Amino acid sequence: MKSIVLIPAAGSGRRMGTTTSKQYLELQGKPLLAHTIALFDQHPQVEAIYPIVPADDREYCQREILDRYQFKSVRRLIAGGSERQDSVRNGLAALIEDGYNQPRRPILIHDGARPLFNTDLLAALLKSIDANGACIMAVPAKDTIKQVIQGQIVDSPSRDQLWQAQTPQGFHFEILDKAFHLQASDEGPSTDDAALVAAAGYAVQVLAGEDRNIKITTPADLLIAAALLDSYQE
Ligand code: CTP
Ligand code: MG
Repeated sequence: MKSIVLIPAAGSGRRMGTTTSKQYLELQGKPLLAHTIALFDQHPQVEAIYPIVPADDREYCQREILDRYQFKSVRRLIAGGSERQDSVRNGLAALIEDGYNQPRRPILIHDGARPLFNTDLLAALLKSIDANGACIMAVPAKDTIKQVIQGQIVDSPSRDQLWQAQTPQGFHFEILDKAFHLQASDEGPSTDDAALVAAAGYAVQVLAGEDRNIKITTPADLLIAAALLDSYQE
């Protein structure tokens, strides 16, 4: 069964600090979000793509992204919510409405802010989701990570076991749906879907990805992404 791709892109890009939201900033003359959608458009293992954007930006995105680039696999634009998790939940509701809720249907969730994912890795990710129900891309931490509270180190976990979560993160529909239903209301919103699925009691596999799959968060990331994109087109 082919996968459904949710692309949460409904954030405000606070850490980027630009007046234009970061998902619309141009890289090589093309909006960041258009680069990300293009990764999955017409991929042989992708059935449909749902970009999730701020409710007030739907008209703008339709005109400047969908009409302009004519993606073939985009099913429709979805309005996001106030936290990333709310945006994903809205995407999940939409794909249910459209009948993509078969229990073992692979649902991929990929940040709109990651335009550099290498889709050569998609087949391996989908294979693991098929076998295990839940798998995410991640890379081993390069830096030593500290837990810091009020400016002081409280823990220095051993780097050997630390990985940086990336996206895509993929789950069988029934697992993702259950995780969203079980979500404890006293928990704060999590910044990735794997945390929610793990909290619901499911084992989540990790597939080693690539450092190039950065999330564009600050102005420095934009410069790095531009350099990486240039290097792949040489
Ligand atoms: N996202 C979303 N809905 C939200 C918040 C975030 O769909 N309510 C999306 C972002 O658009 C982004 C992805 O989730 O593609 C990862 O989030 P992040 O990098 O944190 O983006 P922003 O929340 O926009 O940035 P910031 O946290 O700096 O404000
Ligand atoms: Mg954010």
